[in-house]
Amino acid sequence: MTISLGGQILQSDSGGRASLRSGVIEVADGQIVGVQFGKVSAQVDFGDPETLISPGFIDTHLHLPQFDSIGAAGMQLLPWLGEVIFPAEQHWNDLDWAKSMIQRVAAQCLSVGTTGICAYGTSSHDATIAALTAFRELGFRGVIGQVMMDSGEPPSLSRPAAQLIEEVNQSLEQFPPAGRMAAAVTPRFALSCSEALMRQAGELAAQHDAMVQTHLAETVAECAEVARRFEGQPYVEVYRQAGLLGPRSLLGHGIHLDPPSQRVLAETDSIIVHCPTANSFLGSGMMNRHSHLESGIRVSLGSDIGAGFERSMVRVGRSMIETAMRVALDNDHAIDDTTHVPTAAEAWHQITAGNADLLDWEDAGRIQVGASADLVLIRPDLPWQETRSPLSTLMFAWDDRWIKATFLQGRMSYGADAESGRQSP
Ligand code: GUN
Ligand code: ZN
Repeated sequence: MTISLGGQILQSDSGGRASLRSGVIEVADGQIVGVQFGKVSAQVDFGDPETLISPGFIDTHLHLPQFDSIGAAGMQLLPWLGEVIFPAEQHWNDLDWAKSMIQRVAAQCLSVGTTGICAYGTSSHDATIAALTAFRELGFRGVIGQVMMDSGEPPSLSRPAAQLIEEVNQSLEQFPPAGRMAAAVTPRFALSCSEALMRQAGELAAQHDAMVQTHLAETVAECAEVARRFEGQPYVEVYRQAGLLGPRSLLGHGIHLDPPSQRVLAETDSIIVHCPTANSFLGSGMMNRHSHLESGIRVSLGSDIGAGFERSMVRVGRSMIETAMRVALDNDHAIDDTTHVPTAAEAWHQITAGNADLLDWEDAGRIQVGASADLVLIRPDLPWQETRSPLSTLMFAWDDRWIKATFLQGRMSYGADAESGRQSP
């Protein structure tokens, strides 16, 4: 069966900016099979000239077991992990509990238009496999990693390195990296892992050509502890020596990095995942995106739920702009200097094709023939097409209630007509 969607279609150009073009999209067998630009006819199945149609949003860093922990304020990273996050992740040792939370989390992702994820599970193998299975069945694009921690802290989340390597190897065989939903190699961060575990994790990722997910240089206290534990080595060196850096490595945060560390990340083609909402929530610092880009580092964007408090990638995109503006002001740059402060057109690109390109996902984040029909149908309640900059209006006035439907592989998975029966607001 073919379905058609008409409206203002969000497109990305080769310069890393999004723009809008009126047109009609045809979808069959889960894929986009036609895109005709021009007038939106009255015969389309979904949409009209006032509708915005965006590729599904891609979140390159989030923690599935942390959705219920959003908003635990007043602590910095390390105490927050110990007091809030580790107890929350222990819940996933109960598989039934984890399975029900996974369904809730998937529904929340769809309700904010997220169709692609790079996510952390927990150190529980069974719960992480349950998450991969559920997200694959629902039709999401992405990776989920079993979190590797062998430092002994906390005991209920820590596992022997050999067990973790064996289990993650199994998950990579069951959900290979080339698949639409794949397993990832996910050592939590240097403070949760022995050197031996990190090295074996690096080898495992290389063997399978798998994505690596970890955290890097998020807070000053964390960096100091890494330096203490690893004999003064720079944080990036700890990861480089373990074989954890490279073009398929997603390094969350990357705030506190000096120029030599930036060079290492650029040389290894690693990706820093900018998490602006989380960085402000935990008071970790403001990442200087412009400086990283100037150093040749590739930078993606993520919500980092639950340190991040915004599930919506549109709002995370807005936070990226706001953070860049504050960093620019602190460094005496003009805020209308778009080399320092990204525009809304760049932020829309980042949360769609930009993030997809960094992940080498040619099938996602874009509306073109052959791409997966992962689409968001949006009906703003203000005259957005008549404003000075429609994309800026949409991003700054954003309201999740505008999302009328989210499609995964051509199937309406959220919205009034979704098979699940969930109603759009
Ligand atoms: N560093 C290590 N683990 C985590 C985590 O779960 N969240 C954040 N924000 N940083 C981390
Ligand atoms: Zn994180």
